[in-house]
Amino acid sequence: MYDINRAESAVTQQDIKISARNVQVYYGDTHAIKDVNVEILDKTVTAFIGPSGCGKSTFLRCINRMNDSIDIARIEGQIRLDGQDIYDRKVDPVQLRARVGMVFQKPNPFPKSIYDNVAYGPKIHGLARNKAELDEIVEKSLRGSALWNEVKDRLLEPGTGLSGGQQQRLCIARAVATAPEVLLMDEPCSALDPIATGQVEELIEQLRSQFSVVIVTHSMQQAARVSQKTAFFHLGNLVEYGETDDIFTKPQDSRTESYISGRIG
Ligand SMILES: Nc1ncnc2c1ncn2[C@@H]1O[C@H](COP(=O)(O)OP(=O)(O)OP(=O)(O)O)[C@@H](O)[C@H]1O
Ligand SMILES: [Mg+2]
Repeated sequence: MYDINRAESAVTQQDIKISARNVQVYYGDTHAIKDVNVEILDKTVTAFIGPSGCGKSTFLRCINRMNDSIDIARIEGQIRLDGQDIYDRKVDPVQLRARVGMVFQKPNPFPKSIYDNVAYGPKIHGLARNKAELDEIVEKSLRGSALWNEVKDRLLEPGTGLSGGQQQRLCIARAVATAPEVLLMDEPCSALDPIATGQVEELIEQLRSQFSVVIVTHSMQQAARVSQKTAFFHLGNLVEYGETDDIFTKPQDSRTESYISGRIG
């Protein structure tokens, strides 16, 4: 099993953005996440891989408290963001989700205009003082998600009228508009064609200069292309975590090796 104590000495505290300690998640009687310990680094893309049902989405949702809305989910242990316990009673989940943004597997634009999809977060969090500032945030976010040129002449049209790949980039623009510190992406390319996938992957590479990105993917090629760190989950356990190159070329655990060579999953 991945030994955090051995790994911890290799990074400085400053690089650590998220630190999970002894995290357990239960859905009723199902023990979905089993004693996970991990440090996720700043300005790094971390890939979560593993067979279907191993707990990738569950653990990802712990990082911005999206599991709060699932009645039967129960979480134990600690998750710290910049050293602060995100499950502390003083933490407002809405504020937390502005700092830890999320992009889901299925593009889910609001039933609003393209402009309002992106402007929504900055508005509710008071990030713009006036319309001009809001316009600027919207443009910057759409440029950042490689969508601006395609939508600049139709900003007031509904977001749901875009193609699937465009909708996903709109959701990424919406997530980056609040200037998050961490971006969680749960299989963001699974509904996209190879061209849109390539655009999102390029975007991820750019976003890494600003924040910590965590991406769940079933594509090992994608994990190898976009990430610097990889975590392999199996049956709720974090089996192995390390440099992406190492995980794919010299896995330490036989379960990781079986998965990446296609024997399980
Ligand atoms: N809302 C829920 N209610 C009850 N059980 C759940 C819920 N969400 C997930 N589970 C269970 O928790 C376990 C982990 O599921 P999770 O969705 O995290 O897996 P995953 O690794 O993301 O899988 P996939 O690759 O198929 O998306 C599974 O056994 C799943 O059935
Ligand atoms: Mg999932």
